[in-house]
Formats: sequence, structure tokens, C-alpha cells
Amino acid sequence: QETDQPYRTGYHFQPPKNWMNDPNGPMYYKGVYHLFYQYNPYGAVWGNIIWAHSVSFDLVNWVHIDHAIYPTQPSDINGCWSGSTTILPGEKPAILYTGIDTKNHQVQNLAVPKNLSDPLLREWIKSPYNPLMTPIDGIDPDLYRDPTTAWQGPDKIWRVIVGSQIDGHGRAILYRSKDFVNWTRIDSPLHSSGKTEMWECPDFFPVSTRSSNGVDTSSQDKYTKHVLKASFNHHDYYILGSYKPANDNFSVETNFMDSGMDLRYDYGKFYASKTFFDRAMNRRILWGWINESDSESDDIKKGWSGLQSIPRTILLSKTGKQLVQWPIKEIEKLRFKNLSFHNKKLKSGSVLEVPGITASQADVEVSFELPNLEDAEILDPSWTDPQLLCSQKKASVRGKLGPFGLLAFATKNLTEQTAIYFRIFRGNHNYIVLMCSDQSRSSVREELDKTTYGAFIDMDPRHENITLRSLIDHSIVESFGGEGRACITARVYPKLAIHEQAYLFAFNNGTSNVKISRLNAWSMKNAQIVSTKNRRKPQ
Ligand code: FRU
Repeated sequence: QETDQPYRTGYHFQPPKNWMNDPNGPMYYKGVYHLFYQYNPYGAVWGNIIWAHSVSFDLVNWVHIDHAIYPTQPSDINGCWSGSTTILPGEKPAILYTGIDTKNHQVQNLAVPKNLSDPLLREWIKSPYNPLMTPIDGIDPDLYRDPTTAWQGPDKIWRVIVGSQIDGHGRAILYRSKDFVNWTRIDSPLHSSGKTEMWECPDFFPVSTRSSNGVDTSSQDKYTKHVLKASFNHHDYYILGSYKPANDNFSVETNFMDSGMDLRYDYGKFYASKTFFDRAMNRRILWGWINESDSESDDIKKGWSGLQSIPRTILLSKTGKQLVQWPIKEIEKLRFKNLSFHNKKLKSGSVLEVPGITASQADVEVSFELPNLEDAEILDPSWTDPQLLCSQKKASVRGKLGPFGLLAFATKNLTEQTAIYFRIFRGNHNYIVLMCSDQSRSSVREELDKTTYGAFIDMDPRHENITLRSLIDHSIVESFGGEGRACITARVYPKLAIHEQAYLFAFNNGTSNVKISRLNAWSMKNAQIVSTKNRRKPQ
């Protein structure tokens, strides 16, 4: 099995087989974490979409239980698409989700647990009033979906947004309700943008400006800002602003696709994500769907497609200008076999093996110190697109300060390698830190998407070391640069660098020496991700 399936992951969330896309309705409820997800019970390609359901005590080990929501009513007979949970007063969870109705229109539906005393919430009943929201008054029935977690204003009225596109513009349609069943559309949207098209899977939530705790979705005061996330152009973009529930005014600090502003959760593969407030640990957690980079026929051969990211805590950075993300602490309990070194010179042109760990399933943290910042190349003012810059300056292109970083999933002779690295440039009055993930040599296999990804990190290398954490797991590398200020996730399918043939290296392909002030690498154990024996199949 292992050799047949070199790309299945050891500690990322996956169903046993078949297609998975968006995370849906994540929540913490009475001691249990729930994750639902878009799932095709019949194959490894998108279709027949239902809500599959898994539960966990620690967000690491999971049990797949009965499917939660599948077509049964006219309002969802052609599919049960994405949505969210809200925990109503009296500890009552409710799911709002998009149904595809008999006319193939997108409508919004409600479902509630059948038995609140079942801690696993195995069975869900759909509201007899479904659909609760329909595409009328100028809404395109094909472009109207993915309700968010609802929030309650001080007036006790519920609000929710639904993603859409109206007159060619992305839009968050706002609804209000007193009872969670009767919803009234508000004329002005929560937000819209002329520079984007359809918004899928919007998310709207508060973050604290003074603490690293998460904030419950309905909370808001002078120490919170609000985040609006929308999924479009294959990426999850977000903007920050301040939200006033009295008139539902969201006044933004930045806007989607503003020139020079490109705030994304992840600059690699990461889509249709969703956050929830974890009241047990006072944090907000982000889940995102990571799709495949191989072909559909590869997926059919493998029998599966799609991963979920490692859940990430998400909070406002100290500057208040962006969000930062970090893998949840619990994932560290899978670490075993540690290798660490300190203060090692990484000479110009050198490659240093990180031995003794399972390089195909690992967690690595490294911190680089730059002795001679003056060596940095001058940044050409036209280099404004980090992804383009990384694709022109791949890991094999020599620079001055950089490229330096890690080579994951590498063969011993480096024929195959996925390079996660940095380059430092000098601007007029500052230094610019570029982070790249170069998949161009990740596999000798052809017909894979080997796009290079890149991001600038908002940091000053004069005052802090450059840090990288990479979670490596058979066919995925999730990388966090600058303590989580820039994240890049990549999918790779090495042919040779699999299992024991995978190696991990640190490298420096710049003309200046750099120093590894600290490197820590661990092998990672498998997470226990299992199914209950008699998992009920939808009819
Ligand atoms: C995003 C998405 C959602 C939709 C779901 C269908 O990936 O297209 O907009 O609800 O997937 O599976």
C-alpha cells in the first residue's frame, strides 16, 4: 500500500478515498472539534457533493463518522454545497449551507442536530422552511452561495453574508434575521468590489488589536478589527476594516486587488478556507482546502483528490496591517526524533544535509542570520510581483544574499528537489525579503503543475533573523516565513524522492555566506485518522 500510494499524507486530514474540497462548518462543541467537508462519495473527481463529517478531540487525530448532509429535499436535491455553522444561544449549533435545488438554482438552507445530547452530532435534520434564502431581485441563481457563520449584533439580530457576483462584481450579500429562519436581504451589501468577479466562500470575523487571543464571531469593540475574506482567482484574499453593527457599515483600510496590496492567506495553493472560534483554547483557527497539482487521470488512479491544510491559528500582526498564521500547537505532539544544530555557517554555494529524520514526513524550523546585509542586490523598482520574481529567479539562479533555504523531497544527488528559500534585496531606504517555493525540479514526472510561488515578507532583516517553518508530508509542503507573516503551500509528486529515498537539505546558492543560527527538524508520526466501521452511506 505504501509504495502504491507515495503521495498519501501521514498527518494531513484526508478521507480514506475519493474527492474532497472545501472545509465546511468547522466548530468546537462540547469538547469535540467538528469538521465537515465537500465530498464526492462515488469518485475522485468533483461531483455528487455532500457534507462528510469527521470529529476530533485535538484537531490532529480524527474519526470519520456518518455523512451529515446529503440531498433529500427539493431545495438540495442536486447537491449540498459549502456553508458554515453558528452556535445559537442555549448551545445549539445550526448549519447554513447552499443547496442546489430542482431547477439547479443555488439557495440557502438550514439544518440542525437531531439530538443535542449526542456529543458527536451524528444526525442532522433539515428545516421544513427550506430554502430560507433564494436568488431573487437581480441575484444570478448560479452565483449565489456559501453562507458564513452568522453573527449577532448588540440588538440581538442575526446577520449573515452570502457570496455572489452582481453586475460582474464580487459581492457579500447581507441578510438579517430575528429567529434564524426568516431572513431579510439588506439593500446594501456588506462589501463589494469592482475589481473581482464571483466571491466564493466569504468569511467575516473579528480579530483583536491588543492580544493574541481569538475573538468570538459576534464580539466587537474598540479593540477589534474585522477581516473579510473572499475566494476568487484561485486564491483566498482578505482585507481589514472596522465594522459597526448599528448600521452594518464595514469601512475598509484596504481593498481587494488594490495596487500594491495583495493580502492573501497563502501565496501557494490554499482555497475556500474557513475560520472558527475555538472557545476551549481562545483562539481562531483557519482551515483551507489544498487541491492537487497532478492531472485528473492521476487522481482517478490514486483514488483520491484533495487535502486540508494543517489547521492554523490566525491573528492580527503586531503592525496591525496583516494577519499572521501558525500551525496549531497540537501538531507538535507528532514530533519525534529530533535533529538540531546551532550557529552553523552555510557557505556560499554549499548544501548541507539534515540527516537522521524521516525527510518525507517532517517538521522543520530554521533561522538564518545575515552577516553582511550590504551585499544585497539592488531591487529593480519594476520587480513588484513576487511570484514573477521567484519564477525568474528560481533556486538555481545565483544571487548575492540568497537564494538560501531548504531543499525538501530531495534525492541524494538533488535531481529532484522542492526549494523553499529567501532572497534579500536592497531598496532605497530599506531591505526587501522575498520568499519563494520553487517546484520546477520537484519531480522527474512530467504533466504536473510545477508553478513557482512567491511572496514578500513585511520585515526588516536588520532587526530580526529570517525564519522558516516547513511542514513536509509526502506530497505537500506548507511553509511559514517570517513567523507566519507569509505562507506558501505547494503540492509535489516526486518520483524518486519518496519514503526513505527522500532527503532534506539546507542550501545557499548566493555569493554571500549566511549563518544558520538554529535549525530544528523532527520526524513526524502518523496522525490517527480512521473511520467508524459502519459509516452510513447516503442513499
Ligand atoms: C469552492 C466552491 C464553493 C461551492 C463548492 C462546491 O471551492 O466552488 O463555491 O459551494 O465549492 O463544491
